[in-house]
Amino acid sequence: MTNSADEISLENCPTASGVPMLGLGTWQNTDAEACTESVRTALEMGYRHIDTAQAYDNEEAVGEGIARADVDREDVFLATKIWIDNLSGEDVLETARESLDRLGVDYVDLLYVHWPAREYDPEETLAAFDQLYDEGLIENVGVSNFLPEQLEEAAEILDAPILANQVELHPLLPQEELREACAAHDVEVVAYSPLARGEVFDRPEIGEVAEKHGVSEAQVSLAWLREKGVIAIPKATGEAHIRDNWESLALELDEEDVETIDAIDARERQVDPDFGPWN
Ligand SMILES: NC(=O)c1ccc[n+]([C@@H]2O[C@H](COP(=O)([O-])OP(=O)(O)OC[C@H]3O[C@@H](n4cnc5c(N)ncnc54)[C@H](OP(=O)(O)O)[C@@H]3O)[C@@H](O)[C@H]2O)c1
Repeated sequence: MTNSADEISLENCPTASGVPMLGLGTWQNTDAEACTESVRTALEMGYRHIDTAQAYDNEEAVGEGIARADVDREDVFLATKIWIDNLSGEDVLETARESLDRLGVDYVDLLYVHWPAREYDPEETLAAFDQLYDEGLIENVGVSNFLPEQLEEAAEILDAPILANQVELHPLLPQEELREACAAHDVEVVAYSPLARGEVFDRPEIGEVAEKHGVSEAQVSLAWLREKGVIAIPKATGEAHIRDNWESLALELDEEDVETIDAIDARERQVDPDFGPWN
């Protein structure tokens, strides 16, 4: 059963360790005005979690969307990421401040190491993240695309707790082992590409569950992630997709649905650069 988005209040968006479990992704939302309007639309619909990154080249537009929305900045959980060229200690400190300037905020709720790659040096990079945390410029430290052993190493080095590991996760890449490793370290999992960049729409198993509930395939994928305790940040540009994804909060999958989706025998990665730690 679904409600219309207007009926879904913020209370219906569950949180995990204080992070709203449904957020808005913004990768490739690079037209400044479109990006600003996506963020404003999402916030005014009830979203309270926005995900960007230095590499997305849209931090200014995202900040403008937050400023334009009729929502207080303190009520928004804002996350950005330090790009792999900027992970020397000095560059982390300098470019994090530049990100805050572009976003027009004096702190972010979560700052991620975007990938453990190129200039990433665990001791040096993470010491700079600790410093930003101590200075109050970042409320939480996150990592992204970290394998279990890299997560363990980072947890040992950092003084600040690791709030989340952001990784690709969807019904075609369920990442069971990684989820277990995160749980063992009390680290939340944030699913990027939670719709497998559109690939979930073509899976008959997802279609079957969607048809049963009279909802979209996107909603099924997002409800499945929520059922797994995973935070999801689907990217959507226009109001229709933003609303469709928001309405996934009203979808409760039953045991049979979850079993049907769990049985999908796929391990398909959509984001797989050479510098991915698994390559
Ligand atoms: N940490 C990392 O390394 C990393 C890597 C990749 C992504 N991310 C983050 O995760 C976010 C999401 O991942 P993603 O952008 O790769 O892929 P995604 O969210 O799985 O898929 C986005 C695509 O699905 C479409 N879409 C969204 N909602 C829809 C709906 N309800 N019905 C039909 N189509 C829909 C979007 O179209 P429209 O845009 O036209 O609405 C877009 O083409 C990114 O934006 C970014 O914030 C992080």
